[in-house]
Amino acid sequence: MQVQVSNDSAVSVAVGALVVPVFATDTLEGVAAEVDAALDGALADVLASGEMSGKTNEVALIHAKDSPFKRVLLVGLGERSKLTAGALAKYAGTAVRYLGKRGVHEIAIVLPNGVEAGLAASFIAEGALAGTLDTTMYRTEVDKPVVTETVKLLAGNADPAAVEAGMKRGAVIGEAVNAARTMALTPGNDMTPTHLAQRAQELAADAGLGIDVLDEARMRAKNMGSLLGVSRGSDEAATLSVMSYKGDPGSTETLALVGKGLTFDSGGISLKPPENMHEMKYDMSGGAGVIAAMWAIGKLRPKLNVIGLVPSSENLPGPRAMKPGDILTAMNGKTIEVLNTDAEGRLILADALCYAIELGATKIIDAATLTGACVVALGHAASGAMSNDDPFVERFLRVVADCGERYWRLPLYPDFDQQIKSEIADLKNTGGRPGGAETAGAFLKAFVADTPWIHLDVAGTAYLDTESPFMAKGPTGTPVRAFLTIVEDLAAHGFSTNGVASKTGAQGS
Ligand code: BES
Ligand code: MN
Ligand code: ZN
Repeated sequence: MQVQVSNDSAVSVAVGALVVPVFATDTLEGVAAEVDAALDGALADVLASGEMSGKTNEVALIHAKDSPFKRVLLVGLGERSKLTAGALAKYAGTAVRYLGKRGVHEIAIVLPNGVEAGLAASFIAEGALAGTLDTTMYRTEVDKPVVTETVKLLAGNADPAAVEAGMKRGAVIGEAVNAARTMALTPGNDMTPTHLAQRAQELAADAGLGIDVLDEARMRAKNMGSLLGVSRGSDEAATLSVMSYKGDPGSTETLALVGKGLTFDSGGISLKPPENMHEMKYDMSGGAGVIAAMWAIGKLRPKLNVIGLVPSSENLPGPRAMKPGDILTAMNGKTIEVLNTDAEGRLILADALCYAIELGATKIIDAATLTGACVVALGHAASGAMSNDDPFVERFLRVVADCGERYWRLPLYPDFDQQIKSEIADLKNTGGRPGGAETAGAFLKAFVADTPWIHLDVAGTAYLDTESPFMAKGPTGTPVRAFLTIVEDLAAHGFSTNGVASKTGAQGS
């Protein structure tokens, strides 16, 4: 699908449908009022009928066959005073999904007032693209495909250059979101660790990034016993993809994005119950998010250095699989008692975090579908954010607040470090049920040394089993938007975080 900026006025644009924002107020304003006048009060009639009141993502369709635009789709944006830029992605996605499933090929979208035009264009382009993707790539017959091919952003009185720049940025983000979702949608029989590494290679080539894929022999040479331990139960070889972007060669600062690329998690010898086990094909969502975000970084070319690392493996109960009680040694020499082979994500991440530091990372953010406990704590409403560095995570939470993904901080008290101490090794890979998301975070913390680091547990947010008006069910693209938002902020304002970083005992001790 193409997103383009248009200088046409709303009342004269020739398309299959015109999308007009409606706020939860009594009166139609701005462009909505103009369109209403052009249609002899048809919009006001809809509102007066009570058919729609302007609630968020509410829609009403008006046919206007004698006007240049053949239909008007009213899309609710809620209270005007509560409008956020992030809501505009949903506005556009709702419009594209509603009209695209009803055979409309070309649509024009009005930019609402109240959000800076460049930012509005960015979120609208992103949301429109995300709205087109369906989970039907393996179906030979699709009931209601989203057929929209062209979306015109009506710049109105706004600076067309700002709208154009915002639109281009949003289109890259939307494409990255869809690339991550498409990887996650690919089932385990196709999405192997080798295939995930191939996607990293293809997307790196397309965006002009460096790429290095470590095979198991190179992992062995680096003493990555933790990642290799997980891979033992499977015939598919593990991979560790490293993508690199150098946008600020004069700087010694490098951000590392690290994502869990577990292409299928059966639990291993600590086998999961069969119910919903198929969802564990999505256990590479964090890794897909890293690969897609790195691609977007290559396209957007911000002024900073970023490396993206994706450790990838299957977790299967094969004859050579690691067993409960086994002790693994990670790249940094730490020994790990495996008490539950289903706590494998932290094992593959441990070596990737060590390797990120060896490659020069000065700040690290990892994302992983890591724990069911995080889903219990936050549901599907937010991802968990944990950190060893208060200023860094506070900055992260502030800048991603309106990116379209929610994050909520969970504490890493020293208590959780105690809970994962092993009697016979340095660490054990589970701390039991209490604080399951936090003990997983505490485990990862042992592999980042003093590097400012944020861990994002996206187990409850990387995929959803409910369809929304603006996006198909299945993978959501989380954490791509947050990654790109913090990357742009680090590029714009530098790596230093105000105040003294508390390297240990973040959030008090
Ligand atoms: N991939 C799962 C976590 C998960 C659960 C993701 C639900 C998405 C939805 C992870 O590898 C896992 O199995 N974690 C265990 C850890 C436990 C054994 C300490 C869990 O959460 O049960
Ligand atoms: Mn698991
Ligand atoms: Zn897992």
